Amino acid sequence: MKALVLSGGSGTRLRPFSYSMPKQLIPIANKPVLEHVLENVRSLGVTEVGIVVGDRAAQISAVIGDGERLGLRITYIRQEEPLGLAHCVSLAREFLGDDDFVMYLGDNMLPDGVEAEAREFTEKRPAAQIVVHKVADPRAFGVAELGQDGRVERLVEKPEHPRSDLALVGVYFFTPAIHEAVAAIGPSARGELEITDAVQWLVTRGDRVTASTYDGYWKDTGRADDVLDCNRKLLDGLKHSVRGQVDEASVLIGPVVVEEGARVVGSHIVGPAIIGAGTLVEHSHIGPDTSIGRDCVLRRTHLSFSMALDGATVTEVRGLHGSLIGRMAIIGPADGRTPHHRLVVGDHTTIEVAA
Ligand code: G1P
Repeated sequence: MKALVLSGGSGTRLRPFSYSMPKQLIPIANKPVLEHVLENVRSLGVTEVGIVVGDRAAQISAVIGDGERLGLRITYIRQEEPLGLAHCVSLAREFLGDDDFVMYLGDNMLPDGVEAEAREFTEKRPAAQIVVHKVADPRAFGVAELGQDGRVERLVEKPEHPRSDLALVGVYFFTPAIHEAVAAIGPSARGELEITDAVQWLVTRGDRVTASTYDGYWKDTGRADDVLDCNRKLLDGLKHSVRGQVDEASVLIGPVVVEEGARVVGSHIVGPAIIGAGTLVEHSHIGPDTSIGRDCVLRRTHLSFSMALDGATVTEVRGLHGSLIGRMAIIGPADGRTPHHRLVVGDHTTIEVAA
């Protein structure tokens, strides 16, 4: 089996972060989403991976490379315009050949893994096997209606009135039958070739299409709130490890990772929390459920249930909670002090002030 990982898309819901980095590179527990995805693919025993990339191709290949580090052989496939998930399959036709493959959306986090689902597919080998997850509001997803024995009867992309609560998770198992389906469908109302429509085409033709239910944790990391929630989930299993320096005036409570070259001075860190390599935390309260990237500086700051990406500086801000702070962002008082707040804030940024 091969894997096709989709990492195009513009990530509009994750602005402003997606202006400067592809959403698949947003770190969760200090590791890019895409790397978590590729590790899951690797744990299926798959090593041949095609990654479909858009105009952020260079940034993605700079981080992931040829895949050797992850035990994978990676082929990059360029998608010039985001014309849909089924369009990605047609672009990858040559790479996929006549092999079965798992298609995995590069922004979907399934930390509990999909080994059981993959095994079910290889044992029963239906024409296609989707993965579904029960959600409270499925309107933002593809929705599946199932019949007896987990057979798929109908799939609808983002229905206004869903007829089931089973959302399509961004992991699909395909035999080469999908190539006929992809060639046969036309664009949807949003102008994209939908993979949901291609799978529905197989169902209509009478092919056996099945669904397996994933009961573990699942997040499409499309929005800032999803990223924070997912970060909290992944930090849950953190193992305490201190490789940087922690002075005697500091207290670490619960599982805390202090990476190499990081310094914690006169601070309280409540785990789970990660302090990235080269970061300085001084006279601050950090955590729980917080990850701080590399080379950040946090001084006299209180930060919980938050993420600061590489190179961020936060000085003298207390009561930060649920915050996502971008790379090299600077938050704090100006030199020399002023009586005003002064904001230099990028497009599509959200700032919520305490009432
Ligand atoms: C895509 C699929 C949808 C699926 C979702 C999972 O939606 O079209 O069927 O439920 O991924 O993340 P998109 O993220 O393109 O809106």
